Formats: sequence, C-alpha cells, structure tokens
Amino acid sequence: MRILVTGGTGYIGSHTTLALLEAGHDVVVLDNLANSSEESLKRVQELAGRSAVFVHADLLDEGAVDSVFAEHAIDAVIHFAGLKAVGESVAKPLYYYHNNVGGTLNLLRMMDKHNVRTLVFSSSATVYGASEEVPLTEKMPMDAVNPYGRTKEQIEDILADLGAADGRWNIALLRYFNPAGAHESGRIGEDPTGVPNNLLPFVAQVAVGRREKVMVFGDDYPTEDGTGVRDYIHVVDLAAGHLAALEYITVKPGVHRWNLGTGNGSSVLQVLAAFSKAAGRDIPYEIAPRRPGDAAVSYADPSAALADLGWSAQRTLDAMCEDHWRWQKNNPQGYAAS
Ligand code: UD1
Repeated sequence: MRILVTGGTGYIGSHTTLALLEAGHDVVVLDNLANSSEESLKRVQELAGRSAVFVHADLLDEGAVDSVFAEHAIDAVIHFAGLKAVGESVAKPLYYYHNNVGGTLNLLRMMDKHNVRTLVFSSSATVYGASEEVPLTEKMPMDAVNPYGRTKEQIEDILADLGAADGRWNIALLRYFNPAGAHESGRIGEDPTGVPNNLLPFVAQVAVGRREKVMVFGDDYPTEDGTGVRDYIHVVDLAAGHLAALEYITVKPGVHRWNLGTGNGSSVLQVLAAFSKAAGRDIPYEIAPRRPGDAAVSYADPSAALADLGWSAQRTLDAMCEDHWRWQKNNPQGYAAS
C-alpha cells in the first residue's frame, strides 16, 4: 500500500515509518516539523535502504493536504501529527484544539474528497483520564482531564460519528500507554524540544549529563514503593501494532479501538533502577511533590489487541532502557548535532 503518515518525523511516527518501509509499503510523510527534525527521516531511509516521500506541510493548510492526495495515490493514512504537552495544553487550549482537532478535520475532509477512508489514529491512554480502575479496558468510558487529552477524546468522537454515518470508513483508534525505548540501531529515538515532560526522556538526559537529577513526582502513592506506576511500551512494539491494526482494518470496516500496552506496570523507581543498570551509572534523583493530575497507577488490558490483531508487546523494560540509552548516548543532543 501507499501510506500517508502525518507526523512521520516524530518519535512514534519515525519508528512506524521505518516499519512500513521494511514491510514493503510506500510511504509519504507529511510533517510541519514543529517539534521534530527531517534528520529522523533521513536516518529511517538509511535503515530501511529505501526512500519515502517527504512533504513539509501543516495539516491546517487544507490546500497542501488536498495536493498530497491529488499527487499521490494514497491507500491509507496513519495520523500521528499533533501537539502533546499536557501543561502547554492547559496554558494554550485554543492552540491545542485548533491544531489537533482542526488539523484532523482538514485531513478527514480531504481523505473523504479523495476517497481514502482507511485511517489509523494515534490516540492515547490519556482518554481514560483519572480512572482508578486497572487494568484499563477499551470498554471503559473516556474522561480526559486536560485539554490535550480532550483533543484525543474529541477526535475519537468525531471518528466514531464518521464511521457510524458512512460504512465505507475503516478506522483504528490506538490508545497508547507510555512509549519508551528506541530503535535498536541507536540511530532514531525520542528527541523532545526543551525540557522533557515524560519520564524516560528526562531520565535519559540526566544519564547523559544534560540535566542534574530526576525529580520523582510523589512517593506516597498507594503502590508498592509509593511512586507512580505506568505501562511502558517499547516504541518498536508500538510501531508493529500500527501495522497489525492497518492490516486488520483494510479487511474489516468500522471503528475499532485497541489499547497498545504491555499489561505490566512499572514504578518510577523501577524505571530508574532499570535505566541505571542499562547505562552502567547511578542516576541522581530527588523525591518531589506529586504532579497535579497524575494517576497513581495506569496499565493496559492489552487482550483485545492480542485477540483481534495477534499483536502483543514483546520487549521488556530492560530492553526499553538499553535501547533508549544507546540512542541517547550516541546522540546526546538528539538530532540537533546533525
Ligand atoms: C503523560 C501525560 C499523558 C500523555 C503521556 C504521553 C500527564 C499528566 N500525562 O502521561 O497525558 O498521554 O504523558 O505523552 O502529563 N514522572 C516523574 N518525574 C518526571 C516525569 C514523570 O516522577 O520528571 C513520573 C510521573 O509522575 C508518572 C510517571 O513518571 O508517574 C510517568 O510520567 P510521564 O512520562 O509524564 O507519563 P504519564 O504521566 O503517564
């Protein structure tokens, strides 16, 4: 197939683009490079030994999106492009709704116009909000607790309405748990702009000496060691989940929802221990107050993805830390140095 990947130069997008190329698909990457670098695509192409087409454009530019579909015979879309910083979304809600929801509406209208109705959407476990029940299943209600999360929830609602209105759409809503790790080559990985919001990239930057210490947000949660528990999933496993979902929906129309997680929770202290072991050095940390809006425990019930897609995460937390570290050690400043 020829797949349009929006946000294909970002962290999950670049790993998925590589997996698509390796599986023999043709890929058109559309990205505005707001929070990513074209260098990631260069490296993806080196690893795959094949090229993708790159279109530097913004989904808010409807004319540009129209042209992409007019110029390339696209069969399906994997839609990653979007803003994802929770704190920023609280400060700038209009920016988030405009970009994430507005950009998606443009994409969907242009897909419809050009008769492309197969879509894999990058959703998030964040749609479950502060649910205290674990494991999280796809049947639980959505109740996102911040503007970023609500953009994911609203896009899921839009896609559900679209699928209900027109049976020709094939839609996968993939709810990612906590992506971590990097391609085992150490050539591509997560390269956040500014101070990382998420645990793994922050820990990696401390390990490589870019930051002094990790602040552990709370050690008084009702968990084994008191720190927050999350379901970290290797980004290469996550990428494979997209291919499995795409294969499934091309033969099965309708709107489908799948959690992509491992089903196992790890605490912040367990992540720190695994990362120190991988990096062969101590990672300084300090216990800090809880971060507002954080759940104590979140992990997936990934059984629907296994039953429907035959997909399950294969890689361990140790592998995530080893691969994340290889990327960070080889690219201490991310893609910037290239
Ligand atoms: C966060 C977002 C979520 C988003 C997801 C992926 C919040 C409240 N949630 O999820 O909407 O979908 O990232 O981008 O921001 N931690 C520390 N110190 C740090 C960073 C994190 O102790 O410097 C802890 C957190 O308290 C949490 C765990 O590490 O227990 C994971 O945090 P993080 O990587 O930010 O992911 P989530 O909070 O699960």
